[in-house]
Amino acid sequence: MLEEEGRLHHVLYTAQFRRDDIVSLLGTAAMIRELAATSTGARALRGVLEGKRVMHLFGQPSTRTAQSFMAAVDCLGGKTQLLTDLGNSSMAKGETVEDSVRVMAELFDALVIRHADAEFTLRALWGLRLGRRSIPVVSAGMGPTEHVTQSLLDLLTLQDAWQSQGGVRGKRVLIVGDIARNRAARSLAFGLAICGVERIDWVCSKIYAPDALVAEFLVQAGVASSTYESLAQAVASSGDRADAVYMTRLQQEWDTQKGAALGTSEDFVLTRKLGEKLSENCQILHPLPRVNELPDSWDSDPRLRIWDQVNNGVWARAALLATVMGKQDEVAAAHQSMRNQG
Ligand code: CP
Repeated sequence: MLEEEGRLHHVLYTAQFRRDDIVSLLGTAAMIRELAATSTGARALRGVLEGKRVMHLFGQPSTRTAQSFMAAVDCLGGKTQLLTDLGNSSMAKGETVEDSVRVMAELFDALVIRHADAEFTLRALWGLRLGRRSIPVVSAGMGPTEHVTQSLLDLLTLQDAWQSQGGVRGKRVLIVGDIARNRAARSLAFGLAICGVERIDWVCSKIYAPDALVAEFLVQAGVASSTYESLAQAVASSGDRADAVYMTRLQQEWDTQKGAALGTSEDFVLTRKLGEKLSENCQILHPLPRVNELPDSWDSDPRLRIWDQVNNGVWARAALLATVMGKQDEVAAAHQSMRNQG
């Protein structure tokens, strides 16, 4: 259902990827990044989605994901529309999700969806099955469980950092925070496991521990794992051997009790003092937005990768859109042509 003609079509879950899919997507992203850095390459890129239109339906707030998806379409020469207020669409008049999406399929060539309710995106796929045109649907964040494009940009960032060290294979990663409700953390764990990470250690309180699906996926993939109840404990135990620390914030938007002070407990804050105990090659990532868990005092530390992550969001999303829209070979050809011209 997620593939068409033997290639990725709808992309909702990181776990739907085979390792080859990730290798290919990251390779395409790196080519797009290289092309975009030169005026000839940027011109060639603008032909990739020329004449194509992408609708971005964001039912939840976003800064990075929405803007980088639109920048990605822009750099490939396509046109974008953004709808952020679903209450201002005809769904407010009782139109079903299925019919709304069938309308989108008549007007656009791909649909990017972020919604708090994972069922919304699944109903979109169902609507397309009923309709006469099955445009690709790409998730930009689905409920509290999946953020597939965030995991691609995180993997691209880590691959860049570990290029001369064999990539993800054999690495050890600490993932910190509200794992149960952090879709970026969950999706990254799936992606790291698919790419052959050696171990993922969790740092979280018991109520925010990873769910059974994630735990079982790691077991099946042969990834070692343990859980710590504070960063101090994790760093004291194995911090000097961590190749990366992935920080996340407390996902308070899912709390029913509103009005609580924002931010996580000191147990899950990466202080500069704890950072001194990490190796000088340890990569520090965060999907952002951050609250208090990764203080600004990290900003001058060369291990911090958060701005590379933001930047890579454009290339990873452009690669994914080019792939699901059948334009991956055009990117490769433009890249080869640039290489041939020296
Ligand atoms: N990382 C991330 O998804 O950020 P936004 O919510 O701003 O898109």
